[in-house]
Amino acid sequence: MTEYKIALVGFGGVNRALAQLIAERNARWQQELGFGLKIVGVTDLFLGSAIDRDGLDAATLVALPAQKGALAQIPQGSAEAFNEAVIKQSGADIIAEATFTNPTDGEPAATFCRWALEAGKHVVTTNKGPVALHAQALKALAKANGVSFEYEGAVMSGTPVLRMARQTLAGAGLVGFEGILNGTSNYVLTRMEEGLGFAEAVAQAQALGYAEADPTADVEGHDVRLKVVILANELLGACLQVSDVACSGISAIDSAAIEQAQAQGQRWKLIGSASRQADGSVSARVEARLLPGQHPLAGICGAINAVAFNTELLGAVTVSGPGAGRVETAFALLSDIVAIHTAGRSA
Ligand code: HSE
Repeated sequence: MTEYKIALVGFGGVNRALAQLIAERNARWQQELGFGLKIVGVTDLFLGSAIDRDGLDAATLVALPAQKGALAQIPQGSAEAFNEAVIKQSGADIIAEATFTNPTDGEPAATFCRWALEAGKHVVTTNKGPVALHAQALKALAKANGVSFEYEGAVMSGTPVLRMARQTLAGAGLVGFEGILNGTSNYVLTRMEEGLGFAEAVAQAQALGYAEADPTADVEGHDVRLKVVILANELLGACLQVSDVACSGISAIDSAAIEQAQAQGQRWKLIGSASRQADGSVSARVEARLLPGQHPLAGICGAINAVAFNTELLGAVTVSGPGAGRVETAFALLSDIVAIHTAGRSA
């Protein structure tokens, strides 16, 4: 039976949820997926770090309090985050990177990914920063070192869009996409349709854990812009930089605008889109749009995400599902590990 040794970089909600899934489902995965996971390292800038090549107990890690230096409470642990040692010296085959998104330079996550790939370790990440800003370089580094760099969770958490489109829409002639790619802003718009004010709706989205640490990134479209760059570069072969994507958000939409749209059978949605132009280039944007009721994305409510892929052979193919959430995003890491396992078996 295959067992992958995994090191968790960042132990906030997502990797903690992955540890919980490992504690609960490892035996089942061995039956269903043909492999199990053993956690050999964990590191977190706030909680500290721990290494055990024989395996750390996943349930013990999950039970640790979210207190500064908490990893020092286990025998193998330290209050200090020895990131480089956990990544390079824990004996891990796979690094699960789930630290915070830095939209400016992707750091420190991009460095963590580089260290891992250079050390010949597969990387699975849910982090939009390194993927939107450095995907080409990191993919090249992975190839040079004979390992994989996988990031399904960077766009719609566990809802499969990247791998699904890349694999199952190959040959369908993808010419563009339109998506609701931010749960917070869609939740806010939905709650405003129900009569809530903008600030109150944002506060609710924060309380429910959908929003980024700074919800400005959600409501002003910056989070969607990173996802549009990832989708366009990955699926349309574009070479977009974040600054190439014109971006505006939903903060200017007030209750009166919402009511007026409703009266006309329309809905405001924050849409991230990209399309191939006649000259072969790809143009992309993020903006609030008024959608007619029958548009495939008009019925997507609450924190749900959706993307409609426009294809030559099938027309629009729409995928919807959760775009955030701890367990949902942890599942994306598992799906990346399944892809690594499958590729390894067919190599
Ligand atoms: N804050 C994001 C959202 C989380 O609301 O969709 C996932 O990127």
